[in-house]
Amino acid sequence: MAMIRNTSLCFILLIGLSATAWGEPRDPAVLSEARSMKGMVVSVCPHATQVGTEILRAGGNAVDAAIAVEFALAVTWPEAGNIGGGGFMMVHLPGGAEVWCIDYRETAPGAATETMFSPEDGRHTRMIVGVPGTVAGMALAHEEFGSLPWRALVEPAVELAREGFAVTSDYARSTNGVLDRIRAGKNPEEYSELLRVYGKEAADGEPGSWGEGDTVVLPDLAETLDRIADQGRDGFYRGQTAEWIVKEMARGDGIITAADLAGYTAKKRHVIRGKFRGHDVYGPPPPSSGGTCAVQMLHVLERLDLRRHERFSPEALHLLAETMKRAFCDRARFLGDQDFVSVPARLTRPWYARKLAEDIDLRFATPAETLVPAIPITDEAPSTTHFSVIDGAGLAVSNTTTLEASWGARIVVQGAGFLLNNEMGDFNWFPDHTDRSGRIGTEANRIAPGKRMLSSQTPLIVAYKGRPVLLTGSPGGRTIINTSVQMVVNAIEYEMPLDEAMRAPRIHHQWLPDRIQYESFDERITAETIAALEEKGHATAPRGGASYQGDAHSIAIDLDSGEYHGVADWRRGGKAEGL
Ligand code: DON
Repeated sequence: MAMIRNTSLCFILLIGLSATAWGEPRDPAVLSEARSMKGMVVSVCPHATQVGTEILRAGGNAVDAAIAVEFALAVTWPEAGNIGGGGFMMVHLPGGAEVWCIDYRETAPGAATETMFSPEDGRHTRMIVGVPGTVAGMALAHEEFGSLPWRALVEPAVELAREGFAVTSDYARSTNGVLDRIRAGKNPEEYSELLRVYGKEAADGEPGSWGEGDTVVLPDLAETLDRIADQGRDGFYRGQTAEWIVKEMARGDGIITAADLAGYTAKKRHVIRGKFRGHDVYGPPPPSSGGTCAVQMLHVLERLDLRRHERFSPEALHLLAETMKRAFCDRARFLGDQDFVSVPARLTRPWYARKLAEDIDLRFATPAETLVPAIPITDEAPSTTHFSVIDGAGLAVSNTTTLEASWGARIVVQGAGFLLNNEMGDFNWFPDHTDRSGRIGTEANRIAPGKRMLSSQTPLIVAYKGRPVLLTGSPGGRTIINTSVQMVVNAIEYEMPLDEAMRAPRIHHQWLPDRIQYESFDERITAETIAALEEKGHATAPRGGASYQGDAHSIAIDLDSGEYHGVADWRRGGKAEGL
């Protein structure tokens, strides 16, 4: 069954690692879904979903609800929800095609240099932290699109942290997992604040384990959120919180200064727009690669007329993989922060998609390394969360947010009670070092002071004649783009209902390593199909056990009936709730 050909040991190890990170296998039949005509919130955490629907009920719009969900996730979903990280919020205004992206991606500190990380250095517990963007992003979204008072949107998170919330089974699994890994690791003292803030003491004073129904209280975080509720972005980027962040840097190799924090700005950006089967597809622009790559892939898939082939046939999977491979190759060649590098406009142009489509051999895989001989390649290694919101007026939000790794840098700012990201890991660390394991060393995404690191976050909005029909996105590092594209392919190209689209197995190809990774829980990708793909020259690698691809909490909108269908991804649990 385990067919792994031409893959490096390194990636076999990665697959194994991500398998353990997800916990127990889950049942695709068990997912949360909801239907409503008035409003919908779908997120990874029931507490956060509830906060969102309460804001909608109180008369808030979808952006108000999204801001409240983001802050609630910072309390109740600490592995990825955050105020110490960043993300991208896509906003589709009702009654037309005006769509914006709030870019709240982290930036490299002022003292960052192109070669600040070296393989010999080992751990970079604080140097790896990017200047956080979340609070500035939420403040900008509120200024631009919000309707309720700011405090009303932060207050539910303050209350959750101050009064406590009931532990869900997923919270327990995630928190017990990180606590166990730290305690079993080489230097638990480095993460002592995380152990203090998130640990559970058993009655005998020994470290305990969280169980469903326990209550978690986070008093330091409550005070930090309260300062944000009072002072807006200044409650984070100046004063007490900023001082504590700078102090935290000094406890290790951190380089973020007070000036870096005070100078951080979130940006309201024009979105990437493409066309797919008569629909408009909107995604985030660089510094995320998500919008560009997703639109590029969808343009190619339309040229290839993917739907001629049965959805999980070797022919369809071959075309998907070849399309992914080419988009990821261009990602490595060209994509970086648009404020620092010029990204070629052709990537999302239909003529370029036609050229890529013509280049795809329908019978055989193109070896990844032949796509760009100009990049020298040498031999040589979850977590984020997505949520979707729509209100009764049709204002729609597709939002992805991250600390980069699960629990970010695992550094909790002493006194302030929140986790810092390890987002500097998304830059290309080693100039000119591109290897078969997928490490990229190209120019566009090298480190520079104030630059935003390239992201794969792909919060998408698909619309028809100015009205959203699908809100989707996912965590999963580079797999994010392919998960999001496959949600669009399932829902639009193959017209699957959203729950079916969510249950479908996913594949991933990212140019390097040159192989198709596929979810093996589902019999629709058969052994014969894998054998046929290998015949075409693809290396393949199954994701077995509980190693799933993504977590795509999405909403589909039926334009005829006006009904919203929210579906949480069974791969991580989550909750869809309508009004
Ligand atoms: O922005 C990015 O592309 C990455 N930092 C996302 C990391 C991620 O999705 C990890 N999780 N599952």
